[in-house]
Amino acid sequence: MYNSGKVIIGIIIFLAVFALPIWYNRGAAVVPPKLELPKDEKQCVEATAYMKASHMEMLDTWRNSVVRDGARVYVSTTGKTYNMSLQNTCLACHKTKEKFCDRCHNYLDVAPDCWDCHIAPEVKLTGRTK
Ligand code: HEC
Ligand code: HEC
Ligand code: HEC
Repeated sequence: MYNSGKVIIGIIIFLAVFALPIWYNRGAAVVPPKLELPKDEKQCVEATAYMKASHMEMLDTWRNSVVRDGARVYVSTTGKTYNMSLQNTCLACHKTKEKFCDRCHNYLDVAPDCWDCHIAPEVKLTGRTK
């Protein structure tokens, strides 16, 4: 069977890449849409290009490792270690979820349901989101 979901994602990614010059021409924007990157950190868990393409698989692997095997330490390709945690690691650096994760996901029409259970930094003390 033809996988229409994959085709639609392909079209979305094609449109995103196709729209790149348009965003560049707006002047200030570096990436479509403009993402707020961590101010006090320079490097992600893995190379930026890898993160762009594969952060969803990474998170999936992290979740399975923690939930199924109770293994919480991730060793990066550069030998650095990280606690495999969505909120305590990814969002400890990417503090502005709305201006980073959400901005990109909204632009590409992706809506991960993680925040039904996981808590974004801004609401840490007040309970669940929504
Ligand atoms: C130690 C801080 C740190 C941690 C932890 C971290 N990031 Fe990053 N991340 C960064 C920085 C800094 C950049 C921008 C790197 C650059 O400018 O090339 C980045 C870039 C990215 C990008 C690419 C953005 C773009 O330019 O399109 C994605 C996606 C991303 N991170 C997702 C994640 C996810 C998901 C996690 C958790 C699995 C995570 N990051 C953990 C610091 C971090
Ligand atoms: C540069 C754009 C970009 C940024 C920034 C970004 N994402 Fe994504 N994310 C995507 C794309 C594109 C997909 C969908 C890929 C697909 O469906 O194959 C995705 C998918 C996901 C998924 C899987 C969703 C699903 O339903 O399977 C998760 C989880 C996720 N992102 C988490 C994050 C988190 C957490 C951050 C912020 C730390 C983040 N992403 C930042 C582009 C981005
Ligand atoms: C129905 C509730 C629920 C949803 C939805 C959910 N999770 Fe989780 N997740 C949990 C629970 C419970 C744990 C176990 C917490 C622990 O042992 O530290 C967990 C653990 C994790 C972990 C490892 C521990 C940590 O601190 O992050 C990751 C990574 C993770 N989930 C990622 C995701 C991602 C990515 C999504 C969205 C695609 C998601 N989860 C959606 C409930 C959920």
